[in-house]
Amino acid sequence: MSERGSALVVGATGLVGRAVASALAAAGMRVEGAARRPPTRPCRFPVVACDRGQPYALRALFGRARYTAVVDCCLSSATDLPALSAVSCDRYVFMSSGSVYDHRRPGAGPGSGPTGEDAPLVRSLEGALSSATFERQRHRVELEQAVRTWAAGRCAVTALRLGVVLGPGDRSMRLTHWRVQLASSDRTDVPDDAIVSFVDARDLAELLAAELARRSSSAWSVLNVGGPPRPRAPRLLDIVRFLVRFLRLSEQRVAPVSSAELLERGVVPWSEVPLWAPPGTATDRLMMLDSTRALAAGLSWRPWAETVLDSMEAPA
Ligand SMILES: NC(=O)c1ccc[n+]([C@@H]2O[C@H](COP(=O)([O-])OP(=O)(O)OC[C@H]3O[C@@H](n4cnc5c(N)ncnc54)[C@H](OP(=O)(O)O)[C@@H]3O)[C@@H](O)[C@H]2O)c1
Repeated sequence: MSERGSALVVGATGLVGRAVASALAAAGMRVEGAARRPPTRPCRFPVVACDRGQPYALRALFGRARYTAVVDCCLSSATDLPALSAVSCDRYVFMSSGSVYDHRRPGAGPGSGPTGEDAPLVRSLEGALSSATFERQRHRVELEQAVRTWAAGRCAVTALRLGVVLGPGDRSMRLTHWRVQLASSDRTDVPDDAIVSFVDARDLAELLAAELARRSSSAWSVLNVGGPPRPRAPRLLDIVRFLVRFLRLSEQRVAPVSSAELLERGVVPWSEVPLWAPPGTATDRLMMLDSTRALAAGLSWRPWAETVLDSMEAPA
């Protein structure tokens, strides 16, 4: 085994997993990746085709090894946990979400400070970001609890509660949407008052590499990993104008409008207009994660324009 230890990255070809596996390999760890489909681009670590949902798949492929860390980048259900028991590790890291918090607790919301790791978790519909997101949020909270129960006496756990993560290879194409939209339309309405606070997947990955190098023995740890606070986070309009210049298009293609006006017209934030979180709304609050502890642990935010530029290729 490498002196730096070994890691199995489950979901190693996605936005987060690929960046994590690359960073751990660069840090000197022996890295193996798993995903249902093989990678479409060359990578510096082996990826084994494996559907974690298939009975015994993880046991057959990885059950004989012991890893310093298993980094899970696609845990979506507690039913995935029994199969993981076949793989031994000192630390299990999984990607959770900042949506586990009660963003409507007293004192939370517009004008208040960001949400730290000690904030209460969402327990009821009243604490949910919206009625539409409640079930998903509750599912995340229950999933964290299920991991904690599963890992007790087995391995230490780190839950990374992520805000918005962007970067090259984003399958949801939240940034590349704008390139396509700008290139294909003479005029695009862009909200002028919405902030996009995000963390680059590669910065998240560097943080995790630093965290694993510390070999903490804490049985359960939680770390928020969000984007920078305002005013360092760009407006969506800043990002779109940057893309207009990058694509050498006329600035006339961008029509700044207020979020209120778009909402009045019935335009749906995020799903119809990627990365648009109207100020004061649920998604906007989700972007107010307090990453102070992550910064102390080694997180740094690269300039947002670098992420935007590097994300311009559609995922293969
Ligand atoms: N991106 C964000 O903004 C964000 C924010 C908060 C939380 N998160 C969480 O962070 C994690 C990673 O997100 P992401 O954006 O990197 O996702 P992603 O780009 O969709 O990547 C998912 C990875 O998991 C693999 N995978 C999916 N199902 C699998 C299965 N049954 N067996 C084996 N591999 C499987 C995928 O490859 P194949 O499809 O080839 O199997 C891919 O490598 C997720 O749990 C997500 O909920 C992400």
